[in-house]
Amino acid sequence: MGPNIPEEQSKLPIPGVQHLIAIGSGKGGVGKTTVAVNLAVSLASSGHRTGLLDADVYGPNVPLMMGIRETPQASGERIVPLEQYGVRLMSMGFLSHDDRPLIWRGPMLHGVIQQFLRRVHWGELDYLIIDLPPGTGDVQLSLIQTAPLSGAVVVTTPSDVSLEDARKAVQMFRQVRVEILGLVENMSYLIAPQSKERIDVFGSGGGRRTAERMDVHFLGELPLDPEVRVGGDTGIPVALRNGQDPHARAFHEVAEKMLTRLQETGGAQGPSITIED
Ligand SMILES: Nc1ncnc2c1ncn2[C@@H]1O[C@H](COP(=O)(O)OP(=O)(O)OP(=O)(O)O)[C@@H](O)[C@H]1O
Ligand SMILES: [Mg+2]
Repeated sequence: MGPNIPEEQSKLPIPGVQHLIAIGSGKGGVGKTTVAVNLAVSLASSGHRTGLLDADVYGPNVPLMMGIRETPQASGERIVPLEQYGVRLMSMGFLSHDDRPLIWRGPMLHGVIQQFLRRVHWGELDYLIIDLPPGTGDVQLSLIQTAPLSGAVVVTTPSDVSLEDARKAVQMFRQVRVEILGLVENMSYLIAPQSKERIDVFGSGGGRRTAERMDVHFLGELPLDPEVRVGGDTGIPVALRNGQDPHARAFHEVAEKMLTRLQETGGAQGPSITIED
């Protein structure tokens, strides 16, 4: 890949890409990648041209969860994204094939994301979903500042610690004026196998209340279910199933709400490219 792109160009729109949507969380392990993968698959299955950029360069999990690990080909100066389930993909996991963790500093990370955004031949996309690494530190800040985002989705679990960290994530996006499309509560409840009764392991309504308190939209609750985990581990996301399946439906509904919010917010590509006349 070529040299880094200068800072002042980092907010420029990506030609052909309509909307960039970041998936973030305060806490790790709450299901960001699971949500990112299943939302991308949902969007693609409903006919939207969709890409998924794995911005977790330290721990890229998109290749596993999308069931693909190949080496992308170059085309001239650019990299051709892989494609799986109708979703165009780029991940550090496609470029480094051993299990050693990558130890990269902020400025290098900045470069990688710019390269992934601008030197990958994404082509025409309606939505490019970006799976962020966990946390609200400098790394995440720099990532979201280097992409012309239309909006962000914050993922949480219903536990108090996760909700607390979700609030930090909301603040982080607000700090850099990224529109928050909404909060998703993952691992919200269990469905009892026999009775099909809903069990609220962590109490109920925490995500919705946190969202209301922060004046953020609530995009829905996703069940805690072994099938979701197995879907991730086997690279066959549950959202691939047809709309009758309750797991698939839960993700499809969140995807639809997210798109509705995007329309409501006008979906501008970041504040810095608004042209006033
Ligand atoms: N709703 C769910 N039901 C069951 N298992 C889930 C659910 N959501 C996520 N998981 C599982 O929990 C684990 C963590 O999920 P995931 O990797 O998506 O989280 P993450 O927030 O991206 O983590 P990290 O912070 O490390 O990037 C995975 O094994 C995943 O399959
Ligand atoms: Mg992840």
